Amino acid sequence: VLVHAQALLTSGPQGRTDYIEADLRDPAKILEAARRTLDFDRPIALVLAAVLHFIEDEEAYPVVRQLVEALPSGSHLVLSHLSADLNPVAINKVADTFRKRGFSFVLRRREEIGRFLSDNGLEPLEPGIVPSRHWRPDHAADATEARGAAPEHLEELDHLDQGQYVSIAEATDEDVNIFVTVARKP
Ligand SMILES: C[S@@+](CC[C@H](N)C(=O)[O-])C[C@H]1O[C@@H](n2cnc3c(N)ncnc32)[C@H](O)[C@@H]1O
Repeated sequence: VLVHAQALLTSGPQGRTDYIEADLRDPAKILEAARRTLDFDRPIALVLAAVLHFIEDEEAYPVVRQLVEALPSGSHLVLSHLSADLNPVAINKVADTFRKRGFSFVLRRREEIGRFLSDNGLEPLEPGIVPSRHWRPDHAADATEARGAAPEHLEELDHLDQGQYVSIAEATDEDVNIFVTVARKP
């Protein structure tokens, strides 16, 4: 991935881009690299998609604080976070398989996800911190068709994997297991 990204994600007349290899638990390294490409005098989008569940509280909250502190006013945090609030049985099975292999896997409650915002003075945009399918699903595509899945193949998958093929318009909260929010730094 790194080699392909460095070959393809290059800067050009349309804009500047960069791809770095770094551990999220080392925000200083990420910020140092980001400053070489991004203009920190203008609003920045910080996207933490389905990654904070790999980091324990002692590091996760300080990491987000350090990253958000570096951003100028008007920046936004885009956050998605796995949770056991919605379908505990299915997601705890996933968590167990990771933990057995030595990974941290922290399924935070909605309030705990909210702390990434409130601790840093971030203001959530409407509709707040919601299961992903509720976050402005205005361009719902038929995922089964889009992914070209054969119906007989779908039946072989467990409930969680079948979820990848459910249209967002038909998905339930039990299918998604993930909260999403976008919040603005005043
Ligand atoms: C569920 S995937 C999400 C990928 C992508 N953000 C998305 O939403 O499609 C989780 C990713 O987090 C990465 N990851 C896990 N721990 C990490 C860490 N400490 N620092 C940086 N990345 C990490 C994994 O390698 C994996 O690519």
